[in-house]
Amino acid sequence: MSDAPLGVFDSGVGGLSVLADLRRALPGEDLLYLADTAHVPYGARPDDEIRDLTDRAVSALHARGVKGVVVACNTASAFSLGHLRSRFEMPIIGLVPAVKPAVLSTRSGVVGVLATPGTLRGTLLADVIREFADPAGVRVMRAVSTELVPLVEAGQADSARAREVLREILTPLAQAGADGLVLGCTHYPFLAGSIRAEFGDTFTLLDSGPAVARHTRRVLTERGLLSGRESGGQEHFLVTGDAARAAPVMAALLAAGGMTAGGMAADG
Ligand code: SIN
Repeated sequence: MSDAPLGVFDSGVGGLSVLADLRRALPGEDLLYLADTAHVPYGARPDDEIRDLTDRAVSALHARGVKGVVVACNTASAFSLGHLRSRFEMPIIGLVPAVKPAVLSTRSGVVGVLATPGTLRGTLLADVIREFADPAGVRVMRAVSTELVPLVEAGQADSARAREVLREILTPLAQAGADGLVLGCTHYPFLAGSIRAEFGDTFTLLDSGPAVARHTRRVLTERGLLSGRESGGQEHFLVTGDAARAAPVMAALLAAGGMTAGGMAADG
């Protein structure tokens, strides 16, 4: 058993969508969330830089005594999981786009993946497409934007601009008959309202948060790292950028997931 907190890392506020799933799966665990708001977005950065920034963030969580880290960022996971697992003995749990459930549930045989340029370039996505979509003959269409993550970070997930960008990049998928849309970035579950406002029920929206939360519980159980409590877990937050600026956006996104923002501090 371990009373240490579980670390949760994202380039910014998007990982809060995963935090809500982790809280439901692990009600007795303390969660320490680190948002690298000084460097978000990661999605358009070069591979090496994404790896270095992720290494720095996970090292900062490790220095604070976490018992494991959930890399709640698809872009960081795409480039860093192997590297992190070779550096740290604690469990490192990453995110893989939810292509498998999209393949299992599609009726049209066409699904979309909405992700950052980094995630689309990384091998994790290519691997799951090869493993699940190709053998089933399911066509996977990719949609990308560098504008959506900054809009979520700015608290504008439900804005006219977010809906305009989504309309532009998702219309070709809807026209091609895609009936499932994999939200391949942890910021994107916060865009669900805007996607539905533009496209109604055209797409079933799929994200990896619930599966990663279940997997995290399994890993902590297997390693004997659960706290032994089934309620009362606390959340604490660290940001690398301007905490006063991040706080209201984080509070609003946490409230959307049924949570409140506890202690928030600058990561110094
Ligand atoms: C980003 O920082 O660009 C997005 C993070 C993600 O892929 O989840």
